[in-house]
Amino acid sequence: MSSPRSQWKSRFGFILAASGSAIGLGNIVFFPANAYKFGGGAFYLPYLVALVLIGIPVMIAEFGLGGITKKSFPLAMRQAGGSFGEFFGWFAILNAGFISFYYVTILGWVCGMGIEAFTKPVEEVFSANSTTHVDWVGGTGADLPNPVGTFFAVVSSWTPLVAVICVWFLNFILVSKGTRTIEAAVKIFVPTMWIAMIYLAITGLTLEGGFDGVQTLFTPDLEILSNLEVWQGAMAQMFFTLTLGFGVMTAYASYLPDRSDHSHNAVTTSLLNCGFEWIAGVAIFSMLFAFSISPKASTLSMMFFITPAGIAEMGALAQGFAMGFWVLLLVAGLTSSISLVEALVSAMRDKFGTARWKSLLGFGLVGCVGSAFFAMPHVINSGLEDDGTLGLTLVDLIDHWAFQYGLLIVGLIECLVIGWGIGMERLLGFLNERSRVRLGPLFAFLIKFLIPAVILCVFILNIAWLELDMDLFGVKGVEVDGKPGIYGESFGPNYTAGGEIMKSLHLIALIAWVFGTFGIAALLTGIRSKAQRAEVAQ
Ligand code: TRP
Repeated sequence: MSSPRSQWKSRFGFILAASGSAIGLGNIVFFPANAYKFGGGAFYLPYLVALVLIGIPVMIAEFGLGGITKKSFPLAMRQAGGSFGEFFGWFAILNAGFISFYYVTILGWVCGMGIEAFTKPVEEVFSANSTTHVDWVGGTGADLPNPVGTFFAVVSSWTPLVAVICVWFLNFILVSKGTRTIEAAVKIFVPTMWIAMIYLAITGLTLEGGFDGVQTLFTPDLEILSNLEVWQGAMAQMFFTLTLGFGVMTAYASYLPDRSDHSHNAVTTSLLNCGFEWIAGVAIFSMLFAFSISPKASTLSMMFFITPAGIAEMGALAQGFAMGFWVLLLVAGLTSSISLVEALVSAMRDKFGTARWKSLLGFGLVGCVGSAFFAMPHVINSGLEDDGTLGLTLVDLIDHWAFQYGLLIVGLIECLVIGWGIGMERLLGFLNERSRVRLGPLFAFLIKFLIPAVILCVFILNIAWLELDMDLFGVKGVEVDGKPGIYGESFGPNYTAGGEIMKSLHLIALIAWVFGTFGIAALLTGIRSKAQRAEVAQ
């Protein structure tokens, strides 16, 4: 193959890039929303257990795999587990690709809300005490509280579509020279994120009553531990927030020099990520409690309705806080999405020798279409469904499969393939030789037995309890607070006006996910590339 494999300039640059990938919307919004959903402190214990027993070990394994093979995820998995391994390697990247479609759509909405914050007085657009008239609600229009009205006005404009294209273009630019451009970007972005987040947390804490929120966040609740859903929530959150099961961490680690200390890197990256997450928890919880806003309902409503409403209450601080919040979300989302783009580009290069710009262009275009698909329904006809939840339920649907199932499938298979295929002796030898952190039989036991067993159990229980009760596509049947929907009251689909169109869109999305992941993974695995044949011949 042409140019030699690129390398990070420094360990610091690598840690910034890996933690930049890990820190994203998952930390700032999904974590506080999950923590709240499961009762604040109740979430902590399962979360910590998931961090120590699953998150850190799996990250060590993903880094180790990249270090040993010096390959991106699919071909690294091939070395460990043959075609079976490679298939799931591609599956991981494609599944993460689907996640990135709607992830970028959400970033497009973030841009739209950010533009509002920068161009209008915050009390006007985000305060829940006043209302906006939204024409299309219920046919005759209705007055919705800001920021709900603002959000739906934004999502049904063309702004998010333009923004989505801009975000993909930014991804393209930031990954254009691989590790070089990524390293330059994260050196600016990641410290900015930390400063902004710490500022938001300190501001939150100084609000009257803010500290009560923090206490709620950190007071453990032992009773809820018998609830299986909490454990599953903590586990899925751990994979998502640490970017595990995406194929990203293996690709990033494959760009490190041979003597790198992978175990130590994994612990550092995980702790940075979780530290950031806790600070975000402090910022959001203190604000919500200071203004006694109930952050019930789904994650997206937390992000787009509840947090902005809280910010609007902050008086003199509101405007600056609001601008900081949206910029922070955009930057954090960008440093995450570029990591997946790089994982894909390097996988295509390893397998087919594809030139960087070709993969970038291809993936960028597909990404624009994919993200537009999630943003589009509102724009075409915001009144398609009475309450305007059309596009959001599409996100919910794919999120349900790609996030709850896709990531965990990869987690299960990669542990088995690495644990049994590479073999623990080899992995431990490789890691320990280079590390100050000494791993022993406990680590081997976790990767080979415990983590796969736990994931499998959760899977089986989930399918037995949840899916079998559901409608064919998992979009109806589970009642939350007496309303149908997967995640909660605000975004449960109800097929009212425009229901047939909605149903077709769901079907298209689901078929696209199944073929786009399992189908294309099989195809890519089946092709024996020139680059591969050349390697065998060597
Ligand atoms: N870890 C990220 C978060 O917490 C998620 C993420 C990383 C991601 N890379 C991604 C999502 C690529 C979509 C695409 O938010």
